[in-house]
Amino acid sequence: MRVVRLASEIDFDGWRAAARRLRAEGVSPEAIAWTAERDLFSPPPCGEGAGGGGVSAEMADSEPAPPPQPLPTRGRGFTVPTAFVDLAQAVILHRASDRLALLYRLLWRLEREPRLIDNPADPDVARARDMQKAVARAIHKMHAFVRFRLIETDPETYAAWFEPAHRVTEAAAPFFARRFTNMTWTILTPDACVAWDGQTLRVSDGVDPADAPSEDAQEELWRTYYASIFNPARLNEKMMRQEMPKRYWRNLPEARLIPQLIETAQERAAAMVAAAPSPPPDRVLKAALRHARDGAFNGDLPTSLDEVAAAVQVCRRCDLWRDATQAVPGQGPAHAPLMFVGEQPGDQEDLAGQPFVGPAGQVFDAALKEAGVPREQAFVTNAVKHFKHEPRGKRRIHKTPDRGEVTACRWWLDTERRLVRPRVIVALGATAAHAVIGRATPIAANRGRALHLPDQGQAIVTYHPSFLLRLPDADARDRAHAEFVEDLRLAGELAKLIDQGAQ
Ligand code: URA
Repeated sequence: MRVVRLASEIDFDGWRAAARRLRAEGVSPEAIAWTAERDLFSPPPCGEGAGGGGVSAEMADSEPAPPPQPLPTRGRGFTVPTAFVDLAQAVILHRASDRLALLYRLLWRLEREPRLIDNPADPDVARARDMQKAVARAIHKMHAFVRFRLIETDPETYAAWFEPAHRVTEAAAPFFARRFTNMTWTILTPDACVAWDGQTLRVSDGVDPADAPSEDAQEELWRTYYASIFNPARLNEKMMRQEMPKRYWRNLPEARLIPQLIETAQERAAAMVAAAPSPPPDRVLKAALRHARDGAFNGDLPTSLDEVAAAVQVCRRCDLWRDATQAVPGQGPAHAPLMFVGEQPGDQEDLAGQPFVGPAGQVFDAALKEAGVPREQAFVTNAVKHFKHEPRGKRRIHKTPDRGEVTACRWWLDTERRLVRPRVIVALGATAAHAVIGRATPIAANRGRALHLPDQGQAIVTYHPSFLLRLPDADARDRAHAEFVEDLRLAGELAKLIDQGAQ
């Protein structure tokens, strides 16, 4: 019997190197014992903790090896399909002890049966696919249920304890690095720990549950947040237990609220009926998903702004959704006479889900006030609905969307325009001007006057509020600010005039 000892339970590179060698030697699946447990009498093969991949596995013969069997026909040039590599990389994260043997058996069979992976009825393939799905679910649950707690204030440091259903800690970690780029955090699990210092992800050995961080004030925040997003009208206790299995509850501060929330659900549901935005009909969600997949709505256009807000969350027309917290749809009255279009949500808008609530939003609000234009009477949106950024240290730095992203997102802006039908659209900055007018429209040469739009509305192009924030020279800043206010005033008056004329 050949014993293969991997450097860790998830040492894919070690498994692959050993599997290649064994297959080349013609060692059949029954003649191999795979393990990742350390032999008490020999040093660990990789030296370092649970996450150490890329180290070749140790092999030993515990019994004389069976005579090598000839490799099936296609010889040494045999390559495996990418689908198998993807499958194997997921399956190795499963906790089942037979996963390594199963993978080798599949590899062994693949040489004779090159289409094996495409046969879902094959018991080995079916089992591997089930494991792959279970691993994907475990990653998804980890993304959803990890809760950070503040463990140090100087510097601010967070930690979370989590017990994933499978060994997915490293696989799940990049998501947290993208989502919580600005925080210093560690996720502790029994299998491995991952730490992010704002720049680098580090992996170390798993820890004992006793080392998990204890309760603190952050808990209260989580509970408040959960209580506010909990939607009693959609309460389906069975689903909830399925989606948030009890095993995760003890690590979730908000789980303590669940019994109380269930008790008061009916009462709260009644109170919500009047206030809640109407949920999008299935027709629209289905169309949105089709749209996300095919890039076309196939005729099923959203018929309300609520539908747009729901559908844009599943938009996959470009890649910006990947690193954003959420899409930020426009906000304001359904038939506002005035629409403002910015470039894209910033860091704070991405977290809040609302346009212009961060520093640029403050400049915008102050200028609107000076211009006598009430923001609540206008529809405020962006040319691009997801936050494009790159991490720099602890911050997420805004990146200007490219032409392809603006074009991909224009469908949403056009849908908002079609539904709101504003009299006047104000484009804030060059990106918005291009999206609204449909061609490059330099601000300095075109601001201060109304431009006719093909759909009979009027457009005004003006500075983006962030531009004012960036101007280094105080005089230039004052001048630009005055022009900006003037443009907003012109837009407000024009919208009022056209609206009165139409009535
Ligand atoms: N900048 C924008 O263009 N839009 C926002 O919503 C925020 C900042």
